[in-house]
Amino acid sequence: MATIIQNPFITTGYAGAGYFCDREQETADLIRLLTNGNHVALISPRRYGKTNLIRHCFARPEIADNYYTFVIDIYSTKSIEDFVYRLGAGILETLKPKGKKVWEKFVALLSTVRTGISFDISGNPSWTMSVGDISAPQSTIEEIFTYLAQADRPCLVAIDEFQQITRYSDGTLEAALRTYVQNCPNAYFIFSGSQRHLMGQMFTSPARPFYQSVALYNLSLLPEDKYADFCIRLFEQNNKHLSPDVPHMLYNRFEGITYYMQRTMNELYSTTAVGGECVPQDIDGALQTILAASSLIYEDLLYQLPEKQSRVLMAIAKEGKAKNLTSGKFVRKYGLASPSSVKSAVPALLDKGLVNNEFGVYQIYDKFLELWILVR
Ligand SMILES: Nc1ncnc2c1ncn2[C@@H]1O[C@H](COP(=O)(O)OP(=O)(O)O)[C@@H](O)[C@H]1O
Ligand SMILES: [Mg+2]
Repeated sequence: MATIIQNPFITTGYAGAGYFCDREQETADLIRLLTNGNHVALISPRRYGKTNLIRHCFARPEIADNYYTFVIDIYSTKSIEDFVYRLGAGILETLKPKGKKVWEKFVALLSTVRTGISFDISGNPSWTMSVGDISAPQSTIEEIFTYLAQADRPCLVAIDEFQQITRYSDGTLEAALRTYVQNCPNAYFIFSGSQRHLMGQMFTSPARPFYQSVALYNLSLLPEDKYADFCIRLFEQNNKHLSPDVPHMLYNRFEGITYYMQRTMNELYSTTAVGGECVPQDIDGALQTILAASSLIYEDLLYQLPEKQSRVLMAIAKEGKAKNLTSGKFVRKYGLASPSSVKSAVPALLDKGLVNNEFGVYQIYDKFLELWILVR
């Protein structure tokens, strides 16, 4: 089934190699690592392009034709039960379209959750259980790994937003997974994650189960020139024109972070007439449209935050890259109550994912929210 792409600047998901910019080296590296018996930890801040890179690798013929590939997003999971639920559901959903011979083997091995899988009148399975039906998660994981070990093709399993497992209250999963992964010769894993310190600790600290058992791979930003060429090509292919200054200015403004550039290019593409040219003067209008679309959400978000936190959030937005948040200087500059009030607000902002901290530099995570705070 061919999808009709109305706008070549994709902001949700992966739409094929034609809409994917560069990453040639990274794709070759990841495929080489995985097909040579390595597990990989893929690390970058959010929205650089990890998930898309994984999909791009998995879509390559040498992978798609020879492996079963699974992408399991565990961002919103909170417990081992949740994790197992997602893993099982994700594998079943992926195997289902490949036909009965393929999924049957998986379903047959899942004896601990048998009643949670139902069949429609044509005999196709569905994962109809709820998380509460996962009563023996360790046993279910074992069954899932038994399947991966025996599948009729080698398997590549990407567990996306893997740092999430460090938030589960039951801390046994990390060690258990490491053991299963290590003893499953038919499956190779990508552990992809956005929080550098959590991911780093998991894979580089000698005290942790995954220490030295995976290849660490840091995903950098797309190169500026490659991104600009990509944008120009997508315009030209559709008989629209793009001033090269536009992608370069966006690259500067959003520090090269893929999502924000793509979202803005999507808007600019949609407002450029066929035969017309998109120029730097169009950028502000595009950003205004984008911010207006999120305005209610942002208003609500600020409204929900305790006053102390929203004031620190706004101060960080105004500072851009903020350091020494509890210094008298920062507190005075933004009229905050006191260093101690900042001290208590910051962990909450980090925990809610509103603010990032990399090497002592604090920034608003969502660049559009930052911009919205600055112009409101
Ligand atoms: N190489 C690429 N070319 C074009 N768009 C991309 C590329 N990589 C990512 N994107 C887009 O950027 C956004 C963020 O990518 P994603 O893979 O979700 O990042 P991450 O998983 O690191 O948070 C998505 O909207 C995606 O469509
Ligand atoms: Mg992702």
